[in-house]
Amino acid sequence: MDKDFITEVKSNVNIVDVIGEVVSLTKAGRNFLGLCPFHGEKTPSFNVVEDKQFFHCFGCGKSGDVFKFIQDYRDVSFLDSVAIVAEKAGIPLPTVNVEFSRQKVSPHQSLYDIHKAAADFYHTVLMTTKLGERARSYLYDRGLDDDVIKHFHLGLSPNEGDYLYKALSAQFDEQTLLNSALFNPSENQKIYDAFQNRIMFPLTDDSGRIIAFSGRIWQTQDMSSQEAKYKNSRASLIFNKSYELYHLSQAKASIRKHHEVYIMEGFMDVIAAYRAGIENTVASMGTALTSEHVQHLSHHTQKAVLVYDGDKAGQAATAKALDVLKPFVVEIVRLPDQMDPDEFIQKNSTEELANFLTKQRLSPVEFLLYYLKPDNLENLQAQIRFVEQMAPIIAQTSSITAQNTYIHKLAELLPDFDFGQVEASVDQVRVAQRTHHQQPIQQESYRRRVTEMPFLRQPSPLQRAENQLFNRMVHHGFVLNDYRQRDDFQFVSQELQTLYQLLCQQGEITAVELSQLDEAVQNAWYLAMEENLPEDVSMDELYDIERTRQRELLKQDSRQIAQRIREQSNIGNDIAAVDELNRLIAQKRNME
Ligand code: UTP
Ligand code: MN
Repeated sequence: MDKDFITEVKSNVNIVDVIGEVVSLTKAGRNFLGLCPFHGEKTPSFNVVEDKQFFHCFGCGKSGDVFKFIQDYRDVSFLDSVAIVAEKAGIPLPTVNVEFSRQKVSPHQSLYDIHKAAADFYHTVLMTTKLGERARSYLYDRGLDDDVIKHFHLGLSPNEGDYLYKALSAQFDEQTLLNSALFNPSENQKIYDAFQNRIMFPLTDDSGRIIAFSGRIWQTQDMSSQEAKYKNSRASLIFNKSYELYHLSQAKASIRKHHEVYIMEGFMDVIAAYRAGIENTVASMGTALTSEHVQHLSHHTQKAVLVYDGDKAGQAATAKALDVLKPFVVEIVRLPDQMDPDEFIQKNSTEELANFLTKQRLSPVEFLLYYLKPDNLENLQAQIRFVEQMAPIIAQTSSITAQNTYIHKLAELLPDFDFGQVEASVDQVRVAQRTHHQQPIQQESYRRRVTEMPFLRQPSPLQRAENQLFNRMVHHGFVLNDYRQRDDFQFVSQELQTLYQLLCQQGEITAVELSQLDEAVQNAWYLAMEENLPEDVSMDELYDIERTRQRELLKQDSRQIAQRIREQSNIGNDIAAVDELNRLIAQKRNME
């Protein structure tokens, strides 16, 4: 695809229409406002700027043009995003590209095909055979019905050595059969099905292709044996269980809609949630949550609700997951009496599960208060250790009100501490963090940076420096605080100065407020937000910005003086001209 084609596509759609298909937008001033699809929020801070044809979220900082939106929203490549937008605009793709997309059939297509064939085979065994009938009544006993079985495309692997192999070996080449991880060769050269007499859960990738299976034993004689309850396909060219999450492809739409994802431990838990009408759930498959999983989820949301089993192992897994989920907003649901969601729905009802999941949420700090609480609370040493563990956790909470609530809760748990004593300990951490210029943990790491926007006029170095500085102030409170304390500081740009004053007064500027400001001021905001800056601010960077600003200011001054010299000598006022000239020389010295 060449540049001209891309430009043509872009000029033939309106970003407001494209985003409006999936985000409900209302007009606010010159722009459109809605709930950001990239992070969970209750008040709209997602802004679509029609005349610049780009979007910007004040909450998570994401911004870009129509292609960037499609890329992030649908999780596709840049070229695919152009193709999608072109289709919306009714512009046929250039012929080369048709070639290109035809070739896009995966080199692993036969592995996807064999998994599809196996899943259909297992499903048929479950739905139509004698053994299947008994397996189904096991599932019915667990509260599933045929609709649920079909929705999850559950199946049954036959109770025979090579049934699947016999069914598929004629249709697929040897390489595919071997690479599929569906079969195990044995010493006597015979090939056996990897799964036998298990209830089969197909696992899919993001685009819904089946890439592996997990099988559960279900007959009583197997339950008492040493066999693992669940068995997964071994890793293959298409299956990496540290990255894939059960049910993600089916949950995607609901995750986007609700701006959050439930993370559970088991397949049956995800199915229980589905029965309760909650579809934005995933489960990691027999492994702890990895950073690859989190990275994967971050394509779809920035908020996770952890619903691990209520037992000790589940709670320990929750604490671990909190670490891996650092870049996310996290809430925790603790189910009563050591139950998992599936057991909860069995003992209670679908309504009660839905109610519990949506209403009974803990913050990570509340969870840790419970989780880290020592058993021997009368012991003073244990109390001290507990306070020392909790103080940094509480100090990292961004809101002071929340911090005070937690300090209060912690003090209440401890016989030998009162509010003031716990607060003192939290204060100590706050001071230490401040002197180390440590930032509170924030959701920066997964924020993807903006692609360059084609602005007609190149900003001058002074404008660039001021844009960058203002950008830093908006995203990093300490930069703002630093400048706030300099009485003599002001932006050269009138517009940035206006924004800066507002920022100083309120600490932030909301999308609605911005939309009510002058058009020039709004433009200045977006230009500053479009600066492509690294995630972290370094002192060197701030120093460079400051130096550029000073240098450019002096240059501007010199230009003005030179102008005045010309004016004065033109009208024959030599004394004034010499005066100005002296000033100019002093100025130049200054610059060196
Ligand atoms: P659990 O032991 O909590 O099982 O394992 P569960 O989800 O309650 O399953 P049911 O209700 O007895 O059917 C949680 C998850 O850990 C993985 C599976 O992904 C399971 O869903 N697991 C468990 C294994 O991979 N292998 C096992 O042997 C057991
Ligand atoms: Mn269970």
